[in-house]
Amino acid sequence: MNLIDLRSDTVTHPTPAMRSAMANAEVGDDVYGDDPTTLKLEAYAAKLVNKEAALFVPSGTMGNQLALMTHTRRGDEIITGAHYHIVIHEVGAIPVLSGASVRTIDHPKDWITPIDLEKALRSSDIHEPPSTVLSLENALSNGTVMPLELMREDYAWAKAHGLSVHLDGARLFNAATALNVDPKELSACCDSVMFCLSKGLCAPVGSILAGSEAFIRKARKNRKLLGGGMRQTGILAAAGQIALDTMRLRLHEDHDQAKRLAKRLQDTGRFTVNLDDVQINMVFFTGIDASFDHDGFVSHLAKNGILINPGPVYRFVTHYWIDDAAIEKLMEAINTFK
Ligand SMILES: Cc1ncc(COP(=O)(O)O)c(C=O)c1O
Repeated sequence: MNLIDLRSDTVTHPTPAMRSAMANAEVGDDVYGDDPTTLKLEAYAAKLVNKEAALFVPSGTMGNQLALMTHTRRGDEIITGAHYHIVIHEVGAIPVLSGASVRTIDHPKDWITPIDLEKALRSSDIHEPPSTVLSLENALSNGTVMPLELMREDYAWAKAHGLSVHLDGARLFNAATALNVDPKELSACCDSVMFCLSKGLCAPVGSILAGSEAFIRKARKNRKLLGGGMRQTGILAAAGQIALDTMRLRLHEDHDQAKRLAKRLQDTGRFTVNLDDVQINMVFFTGIDASFDHDGFVSHLAKNGILINPGPVYRFVTHYWIDDAAIEKLMEAINTFK
């Protein structure tokens, strides 16, 4: 059975064009710095976000943590959002790898504003750690997008207070698509940016960390320290190149699909969906009343070949492999759920 997998956009598998490019990729040894396909991808990726250099890394998590390691020294403090991926989904890596502490901002929309930053900033008091990095996230894991103007204000604030800014842009191109801006506009609001080639862009493996030449030189060494110096990475970079060349240009299709799906879920009268918060490829919703059978819902869909994460707050993620036929099958299965 062809499964319909709505759990995440991380479940996407490579397109036929990617598989073919991977099979034919020209490769070298990337630790020696001579894998031509990886070098090409890194140069292209840096240009796309208007940074001096870029580094291919195995995962978004490694890209984020490398960035934070590279920006900080032991004992520094990083200001970031309470619900951001680097805080809750990266295994508590920041104190382990960077030796830094984390000061979180719990904004109702998961945004960070200069007012929040002013409150979070440490003073020069002898008892306090130095605040040295601001780490932003956009698009946000809650499926919304932080406005560009706010990112600009945060960046200006950080620069005025001597902080480096990292952007977890796992879904940078989704954010740029939703805001209808060039990704360079978002990356102009940070000193380093990580974005994923996997997820909605369908590459099987890989993310990019971009920043200044000096920053990426240091990050490359830290990547080696973490065991992330890989060899014939051209096989993976070939798929990443297609992710950036073509797949990033179609993300609006996933966003439109998510909006249509959200409306149809709401129209069943059985779910609460906040349509305004459907800004990228994610639809969050809950059962309309307390009697909703959450376990039964998940297993009913599974029996129909549809994979979702458990509730009570559901997240359906649209992506390249979720076409109109998949949505029809999903709605049919929902309609037969008693
Ligand atoms: C916002 C965000 N940042 C970082 C990551 C980490 O990416 P990876 O799974 O490649 O480590 C994810 C993964 O879903 C994410 O959603």
